[in-house]
Amino acid sequence: MQFIRFSDLCAQGKAKGQRVFIRADLNVPQNDAGEITEDTRIRASIPAIQMALDAGAAVMVTSHLGRPTEGAFKPEDSLAPVAARMGELMGRSIPVVANWVDGDFAVAPGELVMLENCRLNVGEKKNKPELAAKLGQLCDIFVHDAFGTAHRAEGSTYGIAETAPIACAGPLLAAEMDAIGKALANPKRPLIAIVAGSKVSTKLTILQALAKNVDGLIVGGGIANTFMLAAGLKIGKSLAEPDLLGEATAVIAAMKARGAEVPIPEDVVCAKAFSPDAEATVKAATDVADDDLILDIGPKTAAKLAAQLKQAGTIVWNGPVGVFEFAAFENGTKVIAQAIAESSAFSIAGGGDTLAAIAKYGIEKQVGYISTGGGAFLEVLEGKTLPAFEVLARRAA
Ligand code: 3PG
Ligand code: MG
Repeated sequence: MQFIRFSDLCAQGKAKGQRVFIRADLNVPQNDAGEITEDTRIRASIPAIQMALDAGAAVMVTSHLGRPTEGAFKPEDSLAPVAARMGELMGRSIPVVANWVDGDFAVAPGELVMLENCRLNVGEKKNKPELAAKLGQLCDIFVHDAFGTAHRAEGSTYGIAETAPIACAGPLLAAEMDAIGKALANPKRPLIAIVAGSKVSTKLTILQALAKNVDGLIVGGGIANTFMLAAGLKIGKSLAEPDLLGEATAVIAAMKARGAEVPIPEDVVCAKAFSPDAEATVKAATDVADDDLILDIGPKTAAKLAAQLKQAGTIVWNGPVGVFEFAAFENGTKVIAQAIAESSAFSIAGGGDTLAAIAKYGIEKQVGYISTGGGAFLEVLEGKTLPAFEVLARRAA
């Protein structure tokens, strides 16, 4: 997909002295005291900002934080802690500007301001034309760098891309698309996807889209339980969606028709209760009792999948295969994570739980690309064209 890259504009000297408006995704988790508990998205947003500053632009950056009510500021909605953290990382102080839509603030070339939570602006969520028109007037160049919000068509992610004189992709947005393209559009084969999580229903379209493309589709968690049911196995009291057996069977059939495979676990780790200190019992997949809960894949299954992952050309990972938060049920996810780390495949991973597993096993540096997108990453896996790319492509034409 063609779009203008902000890095090209900077290299051509076209950002010098210009008002550059960067839409980042700085929607980071915070604790009850408002402290930032995880700052990956802040770190990932700095290169675009630094690029704009280095190019001699007057720089504005904004983001949403949470899902506040438009027009009703509450202190907990403020980007102030984000500006403070970013300022620390960049070694400068970053003023936060409130009520900025009408442009009643000044920013000179070489300066950086953070515009308060853009979801406080009336009309943001529904992308109202009056807001979009005002946003476009604030800048000479609009830079969309919010991959995590690229699946939303809001005022600051979509409307402004239509009204700004120039609309382009920032380095993070471009890198995400490049990495996903490398994994899915023209992958080195075999391409293996791991799709795990509690429900088939939330990932059904992803499973269906991947079933047309991947060579191996490893399912885990509650999703695997539904696939085990479809394969005629008993799963006791485990989480599953019997309503979706038909869909699971169809995914297995679609894969088989292409000579590809959905590996069904041959052993599992069971417990009688969902609890960190429940006794863990390894069982053959054919021996699950009526009162068992399957909380992880078994060691034989994990070893077999690990061997496949080590042979892969490309790996796409979304979702832990077991309850890895509990020590007794973490082995499957740990073995998978280590196999991905050791594999020479190009790997791409995304989604909140997956990132937590990557951090837990310390394999950040051995994953080819870690996406900052949650919902956006999933929508790309579903094969959707994200609104961000649709509008940026149109503006590049
Ligand atoms: C996210 O955290 O997934 C993104 O920042 C998008 O947030 P949203 O789901 O509130 O639009
Ligand atoms: Mg969210």
